[in-house]
Amino acid sequence: MAEKLHAPVGDGRPGNYDFAGKVIFITGAAHGQGRAAALAFAQAGAHVAAFDLAADLDYPAYALGNSADLAALANEVAGFGGSIKTYAGDVRIEDSIAAAVDDAAQTFGRIDILFNNAGIGAYAHSWEMNEHEWDMMLDINLKGAWLTAKHVIPYLIEQKSGVIINNSSIAGLRGFRRMSHYCASKWGLVGLTKSWALELAPYNVRVISLHPTGVNTPFNDGLAEIEGKTAIEIAEQSAGNLLDTPWIETDDVVEALFYLASDKARFVTGSQFVLDAGLLST
Ligand SMILES: NC(=O)c1ccc[n+]([C@@H]2O[C@H](COP(=O)([O-])OP(=O)(O)OC[C@H]3O[C@@H](n4cnc5c(N)ncnc54)[C@H](O)[C@@H]3O)[C@@H](O)[C@H]2O)c1
Repeated sequence: MAEKLHAPVGDGRPGNYDFAGKVIFITGAAHGQGRAAALAFAQAGAHVAAFDLAADLDYPAYALGNSADLAALANEVAGFGGSIKTYAGDVRIEDSIAAAVDDAAQTFGRIDILFNNAGIGAYAHSWEMNEHEWDMMLDINLKGAWLTAKHVIPYLIEQKSGVIINNSSIAGLRGFRRMSHYCASKWGLVGLTKSWALELAPYNVRVISLHPTGVNTPFNDGLAEIEGKTAIEIAEQSAGNLLDTPWIETDDVVEALFYLASDKARFVTGSQFVLDAGLLST
């Protein structure tokens, strides 16, 4: 990750939030936003189930999280006395995600929060991408979110409480050149969010989609490598943030997650929470 451009807004542990005893299941937890969320929720007292592929794929052509990243996360959480269990698996494979969800529920006794966050990015015009690239994008970013939720939701229904936060993007609310498959997957998450909000409101389960502008994570480093640019150039080529920053930090995402996952947001459901530094106003 590139050096932070501005001082972080906090230590990743906003003072007014307490998740003691809560259980959060996070996909894509080895890198970037998922990793930051795992650390922050563990610091705030939650039990964290941290799920990641922990392997590279043939697409996209950049490094995803690996098993050393997952082990380092577990060590860091253990270092401050937090509670975490890590899982290596693939959100595209139902048996893989189902086994991890069931194990987390057994290990920690419940699941309160799902952060559907695993995702990939890549560039290509629609007429240049092949079917495999389309399928990988939609399978990981959209189908993976559905499969994960499919196995978490029964626990939330049983408890009659819970929160699902789907990590979409600004690309889930507008188009981007050379990212039509990415945009389609991220708009798809809005459809899931709104439908699940309807289906799950009777069970006191809230569902929200999150829409960050570019975030300073290995994701942008990976795209930069492929494009032969710097991470800042990658952020700036799609950004156009109104506020004077090419990207936001994972701490900014954590602040939003803490609010959305907490009872302070008890009447927020079916909504699109925009964290865009003003980009969508342009
Ligand atoms: N970084 C950005 O600029 C940005 C902006 C808005 C939204 N997002 C979205 O936020 C989410 C997290 O992005 P990030 O920036 O932290 O990316 P990242 O690449 O830093 O982390 C993503 C993690 O997902 C994991 N993953 C990928 N495929 C998986 C699979 N099949 N099964 C399980 N895990 C898998 C990777 O191993 C990696 O650890 C993604 O859905 C991304 O689309 C990113």
